Amino acid sequence: MRLALLGCGTVGGEVLRLLHEQSADLAARIGAPLEIAGIAVRRIGRDRGDLPVDPALFTTDPLALIKRDDVDVVVEVVGGIEPARSWLVEALRAGKSVVTANKALLAEDGGALHDAAAEGGGDLYYEASVAGAIPLLRPLRESLHGDRITRVTGIVNGTTNFILSAMDATGAGFAEALEEATELGYAEADPTADVEGFDAAAKAAILASLAFHTRVGAADVYRAGITEVTAADVASAKAMGCTIKLLCIAARAVDPAGRETVSVRVHPAMIPLTHPLASVGDAFNAVFVEADAAGQLMFYGRGAGGAPTASAVLGDVVAVSRNRLAGVRAASESAYADLPVRPMGEALTRYHISLDVADRPGVLEAVAGVFARHAVSIATVRQGPAGGGSAGQGEDADLVIVTHVAPDAALAATVRELRGLDIVRSVASVLRVEGGL
Ligand code: NDP
Ligand code: HSE
Repeated sequence: MRLALLGCGTVGGEVLRLLHEQSADLAARIGAPLEIAGIAVRRIGRDRGDLPVDPALFTTDPLALIKRDDVDVVVEVVGGIEPARSWLVEALRAGKSVVTANKALLAEDGGALHDAAAEGGGDLYYEASVAGAIPLLRPLRESLHGDRITRVTGIVNGTTNFILSAMDATGAGFAEALEEATELGYAEADPTADVEGFDAAAKAAILASLAFHTRVGAADVYRAGITEVTAADVASAKAMGCTIKLLCIAARAVDPAGRETVSVRVHPAMIPLTHPLASVGDAFNAVFVEADAAGQLMFYGRGAGGAPTASAVLGDVVAVSRNRLAGVRAASESAYADLPVRPMGEALTRYHISLDVADRPGVLEAVAGVFARHAVSIATVRQGPAGGGSAGQGEDADLVIVTHVAPDAALAATVRELRGLDIVRSVASVLRVEGGL
């Protein structure tokens, strides 16, 4: 079985190391030896440490490598939309099998890859694209195919989970925790994709597509990152027996017209400490799946890093290689349900809202009136002196309101109106609440 490896960075280097260390076992499991036909990189002269490969295998021409007749399987660990999409479409149309970790491409245009795989007759596997080492996509795409998945709730970004866990443990603010994540090598030099939720949104799209047999793309996912989560939010969550996590939530939902839809969103949320995802700390990932017959399932492990991700890549390489030797291919994409994606405004959520208000008669009534006008029911109200101090009547007060479940649009309209009241000095923070309290 001859492999073209596209990319030899954090993940690609580990793929090569594991291929070398385990070559005899992998050959036995597949029924044929795995050989590297070539390795495409951007900079041929880059120092790659002591990688156990022949330097003559490196090339800067991925397309020529893919087109070679002696290549059976293309492993793509470069990332990004183009030129990766063109390479993989070319490989798949030519009947090669493809293994990729490229969540951004799968979420942007997975359909193009699936269509090309169907045309060429090879396999398209991408276990490493979501939650790194955790076997998650194969269970969704195979093991749970006899069941009806209703909801997938996950922590699928290690960098943001590290930052939020550090804020929770030490009381640090976002900037300080991000600095620590960068120093320890969790956050990249440009952390935008992680902290703004783009990485998690891509993974949410992939999970929703598999769970609900529907093509869901990154553009269908509501996304909010963690940059505005403050130390005060974390403290307030703690006071309520909660913690804050960046959640990816994909769920079946019935729209007001009675049609079944899917709702897919990524945003920070308060969850109670009793929720199974609350104890997922550090840079770990975990995904909680709910299905009609199976009930609740939890997948947990390392969601990033060279070796954990390479483990998932190699698992796919073994699977597609076995299929090729047996002259079969895995079941193709399952998108028959084609459910509409529900707009975020219709998603049912709860809000935790912190307000800085004037402390005088009638303020609570005015604030409650805004909620009532938007048909949002208040669950709890907590008031204290502004800044947690000991100010008396006539000064400002901190008001923390937690709502019952309501459509997101109604909650957003409530917050907009609150911001316009002169008795509301500021809306200090707005966070969604998930998982029951
Ligand atoms: P790196 O940046 O470490 O490596 C990228 C590799 O691609 C490098 O070897 C680079 O070459 C090569 N490359 C870049 N552009 C080109 C090009 N135009 N032509 C040929 N080669 C090119 O990325 P990672 O290993 O971290 O990530 C790879 C993929 O895996 C991405 O899709 C990422 O999202 C995904 N992933 C990564 C995880 C992680 O923890 N790192 C976890 C899960 C998924 P050169 O070495 O010469 O610079
Ligand atoms: N940047 C990603 C994370 C890498 O922090 O989880 C894994 O996809």
